[in-house]
Amino acid sequence: MRVALRNITKRFGTTLALENISLEVGDGELLALVGPSGCGKTTILRLIAGFETPDAGDILFNDQSVLGVPPERRGVGLVFQNYALFPHMNVFQNVAYGLKFVTSPLAPPLKGEGVGGRSCVQELLDLVGLKGLEHRMPAELSAGQQQRVALARALAPNPKVLLLDEPLSALDAKLRERLRLEIKKIQRSLKITTLYVTHDQEEALAVADRVAVMSVAHIEQIGPPQEVYHAPATEFVARFIGRGNLVTGQIVGRDGESLVISVGGKMIRARSAYGKLRQSVTVLVRPERIHINQPAENILMGTIRGIEFAGDTLWVHVEAAGTTLIAKANALDTTLHEGDIVQVGFATSDISLVPSDQRSPPTPSQEPSQR
Ligand SMILES: Nc1ncnc2c1ncn2[C@@H]1O[C@H](COP(=O)(O)OP(=O)(O)O)[C@@H](O)[C@H]1O
Ligand SMILES: [Mg+2]
Repeated sequence: MRVALRNITKRFGTTLALENISLEVGDGELLALVGPSGCGKTTILRLIAGFETPDAGDILFNDQSVLGVPPERRGVGLVFQNYALFPHMNVFQNVAYGLKFVTSPLAPPLKGEGVGGRSCVQELLDLVGLKGLEHRMPAELSAGQQQRVALARALAPNPKVLLLDEPLSALDAKLRERLRLEIKKIQRSLKITTLYVTHDQEEALAVADRVAVMSVAHIEQIGPPQEVYHAPATEFVARFIGRGNLVTGQIVGRDGESLVISVGGKMIRARSAYGKLRQSVTVLVRPERIHINQPAENILMGTIRGIEFAGDTLWVHVEAAGTTLIAKANALDTTLHEGDIVQVGFATSDISLVPSDQRSPPTPSQEPSQR
């Protein structure tokens, strides 16, 4: 099933929750919706599920509008952060309960107990890794197991679209990492079109075929995880996704394939077709692209101001070119110390120029004169 939002606007009183949003999810694709709290992620899922009606725009399943279709007939499965299992039903009954509800107008109707009887529930419990636990009550399950039950219950009616709203947010970090991979595996094996909402950018990059990065009421960029990470379309995306060094510079010249950019009075070269002389630009260098005390096309002298130990990684904070750059170094590197004067190096191709945010206030010189 393909899902499309076309020019969707949604208000709650005076709050503009979504402004002219368009997006498409391909058949069998997992699209992660990621953005800060309150940006409108849940609202998108509620619109697709049919719990909310848009003020403008259309929602299409395989090119057919579903705006007139009630939630129970949209063929959509839902999983929320707080599992919401029935406490008085055991695992088997919770999953079987799912069978009675969501039905899709576009899928063959469920025939009472026939479709998805005992064997279907059993298969689902297998799929989500709960084999043997069918008689447990929710209170006897760990948080992760409860969320597996919720997933099996959502999948029981064989929905054509799966909506996951921060499904792992209530779980601890280790479990989150394991379950997100399992969810992805299950989603792949079922080839079910999925929207996966999270506020955790790392989780989004890990699970998604494509990621939609949202700021308040807007989609900033939609693309494969690598693209969103390496070629952020806006400064917002560059800041939100991954750990990055964003510095302002000015284009002062061109040198063959490269632009020469002045950053804090130091010249660096970036391979980019984009950019005009004297234009201000935002330069992005990811910490893993910075090499300390090694030969490189661009070298800045700096001083180590701090070192964070993170297991296999050292995050090295270096003051250079009037700013602080974070470099990712190997934790086995024992040569780095606070106060050291070091060379910060990176290649011309390891720099991305990020278009400045369109929605940030224009500088006076850009303002059309109206008087
Ligand atoms: N039922 C509602 N009534 C009033 N405001 C709402 C309602 N649902 C959401 N909002 C508002 O819409 C915006 C987007 O909310 P939501 O979609 O829940 O964001 P997210 O899931 O990204 O945290 C927020 O400002 C929120 O307060
Ligand atoms: Mg939400």
